[in-house]
Amino acid sequence: MNTRNTISAGCLALSMLTATAAETTFKVTKHYLNIPVSHKCERVRFNVEIPGESPMPLDIRLASDHPDYWVFADLSAYKGKKIKVSYPDNLKGIDKIYQADTIRGGADFYKEKNRPQFHFTTRNGWINDPNGLIWNDGEYHLFYQHNPYERDWGNMHWGHAVSLDLVHWKELPVALRPDTIGTMFSGSAVIDYENTSGFGKSGTSPMVVAYTADGDKGQRQCIAYSLDNGRSFKKYDGNPVIDSGKKWNTRDTRDPKMFRYDDHWVMVLNERDGHSIYTSNNLKDWTYSSHVTGFWECPELFELPVDGNPDNTMWVMYGASGTYMLGDFDGYTFTPCSGKHVFTAGTGYAAQTFNNIPASDGRRIQIGWSRIGHPGMNFNGMMLMPVELKLQTTKEGPRLVSNPVSEIEALCESKGKWSGLTQQEAEDILRGFSGFEDGLRVKVTFALSHATDASLSLADQRLVDYDMNGTRLNGYFYSPQDPTSMELTTDIWIDRTSAEVFVDGGVFSYSMPRDLPANPVPFSIRGNNLKIKELEIYTIPSIW
Ligand code: FRU
Repeated sequence: MNTRNTISAGCLALSMLTATAAETTFKVTKHYLNIPVSHKCERVRFNVEIPGESPMPLDIRLASDHPDYWVFADLSAYKGKKIKVSYPDNLKGIDKIYQADTIRGGADFYKEKNRPQFHFTTRNGWINDPNGLIWNDGEYHLFYQHNPYERDWGNMHWGHAVSLDLVHWKELPVALRPDTIGTMFSGSAVIDYENTSGFGKSGTSPMVVAYTADGDKGQRQCIAYSLDNGRSFKKYDGNPVIDSGKKWNTRDTRDPKMFRYDDHWVMVLNERDGHSIYTSNNLKDWTYSSHVTGFWECPELFELPVDGNPDNTMWVMYGASGTYMLGDFDGYTFTPCSGKHVFTAGTGYAAQTFNNIPASDGRRIQIGWSRIGHPGMNFNGMMLMPVELKLQTTKEGPRLVSNPVSEIEALCESKGKWSGLTQQEAEDILRGFSGFEDGLRVKVTFALSHATDASLSLADQRLVDYDMNGTRLNGYFYSPQDPTSMELTTDIWIDRTSAEVFVDGGVFSYSMPRDLPANPVPFSIRGNNLKIKELEIYTIPSIW
């Protein structure tokens, strides 16, 4: 094995180190490994061995000639260590992989044409579900399902970004990498203040994450801990901590969401046809307690006051689609007391809420994955805006409402407020903003005069499409709280590739991909003798 590590030109191709075919050992001397990717090439299995860590299988579309884009591995934590990589014999393109102190193409990150301007996206690669959402020591942590090596799903890692204000995010090196148990599927994070796990050292409360390892032996639940506020994790030697596939006769056992309830830990886990509750005293040993059928993937369970009254609370349980049940929870069993309800629709999926928000804040803050593609970009997928969830009494009983967190509202710059406009007047005002640069927020209250429809479009795309006759809003059944109302209020947030719409104070919301015309396009408002009761316009500066 060749371990030569002299670097003269600031970068070093891997093949220069190759002594035996299809196996390379190299010493980490720089921050990054830059890797060319081409979607014309098949995925190739690399096995990566880093001293002190479990071997890591990675599938990479290594470009044999012209790359579509470059991806990188951050090796800064391994400087001076020797990494062994094996790959198929005669692999073309291997000589193009090189170490450097800069990310190839990194200077262009966040400047790309289709880069969302006020939604979180990763620098490059793929993202899906938010994971391990937690506030700790002044920082909001957003971990997420991530393929750092391609713009499509695969090689699931936990990516990691932090924010001080839920608006501006700083992406950190990946938190969890695939290992011999499996790839890193979704999960959650808690702070173990009482060091029940024993992972803490000298007064440091560990951040403990639970995740699903998706591997040859099925989907099994594992834990890892961090003593440096999520900057590095150590996986527990006793993993997996739950292996329940055989019991449920399925592969589908995944996405642990943990939280503290009185004197014990609770984990909600999706198993086959619904959400199970497990409990633990130390985050390592888990006992099965109960199961509620009717949910798929990415469980959530949390308590909320109804209309802000702390003496009147209910528990909310939902799965990846976000449709939820309300009920009671005694620390071991969730007992639904209502049918399923919907408060949001569209591109959102697998939303999670933050753990450990300080009591002085007390909000239930949620981030969802927005299933929006970014054609031609080296990144793919995005997060929805963080929203605050509340339970509000409605005519049908208590229901979830959601609205963007106040921090993101504070980003908006008001461009004007008008009332009592005709359809034409409102359209003329809006058209003045058609060439908006970063983001645009349009709050509009429509006053209908006929029981037909009302719409607001950008180019030919209907951001609001209210069909009063069919009681439908953009295809979803929607009836205002007052079913006789002739008004509809929409709060529309438009980013480069998406739009999110909050209706009538957040009782319903939906999100959609935006059509991406090459040139600025005009807004239009249509309806039968429609009036615009209120119009407010804000620009939203880029968060990057
Ligand atoms: C939901 C999901 C999860 C799983 C993850 C894998 O989008 O299928 O159930 O843990 O994605 O990336």
